[in-house]
Amino acid sequence: MRIIILGPPGAGKGTQAKVVADSLGIAHIASGDLLRDHQERGTKLGSMARSYMQQGLLVPDDVIIGMIEERLHSSDAQRGYVLDGFPRTLEQARALDKTMEKEGQRIDLAVNIRVSEKELIRRLGGRLVCRRCQRPYHEVSSPPRKRGVCDECGGELYQREDDTSEAVRRRIQVYAKQTAPLIQYYYERGGLVEIDGEGSIDEVRDSLLKTMPKAGV
Ligand code: AP5
Repeated sequence: MRIIILGPPGAGKGTQAKVVADSLGIAHIASGDLLRDHQERGTKLGSMARSYMQQGLLVPDDVIIGMIEERLHSSDAQRGYVLDGFPRTLEQARALDKTMEKEGQRIDLAVNIRVSEKELIRRLGGRLVCRRCQRPYHEVSSPPRKRGVCDECGGELYQREDDTSEAVRRRIQVYAKQTAPLIQYYYERGGLVEIDGEGSIDEVRDSLLKTMPKAGV
């Protein structure tokens, strides 16, 4: 099963992609997490990506496409995966299609999570992320059991550099211009499902899991 989760910054892609991946026993591949991991490790790719990310801009397509293609070939992705944050431009979507075609594979389902701008700003303003396992929390809607500590791995929680109000505004604009056209792209290819992402985390999870039979899961 190969699934793409689409949606604006703060829609809950990371939160829900993890649930879907765990329930289907497939890999969760998040482009933003991979880039932040490169930064933590101080790689050349990480330091190049950092200036784009801090400003809320997209990292160049060729860099991202190479990084994701490498990840798709790792052993844990062979049973399937949930892609979160990739593709994000038409060029990335076409590159993904080309790679999959070469390997006789296809995307089974693309899910678009819809959330209003007001709610996106509220969510990103209160988000905390685990430095170790990248699990997202929210100060109000999904706080950790112990302040500042990840429930799952005990890692330290921090606020992302691109969750400042200026970067969030820019990310929402970039999404509208460069990523929203992918909704039409996947709609035209068939296999696109749209869900309302404004409910609670559990409500959105239930709507998302209900879309799975439509894709033959
Ligand atoms: P990335 O890390 O992918 O960020 P994003 O797309 O902006 O998405 P977010 O991670 O901010 O939000 P999310 O939808 O995952 O929401 P979450 O589940 O965390 O990318 C960061 C940067 O990397 C980009 O700006 C770009 O520079 C670069 N990049 C990455 N991929 C790239 C690509 N393909 N091409 C080029 N550049 C790329 O939830 C948000 C908050 O809301 C959390 O606090 C959560 O607890 C809370 N929440 C979630 N669901 C609910 C709910 N239903 N109700 C209430 N609260 C909720």
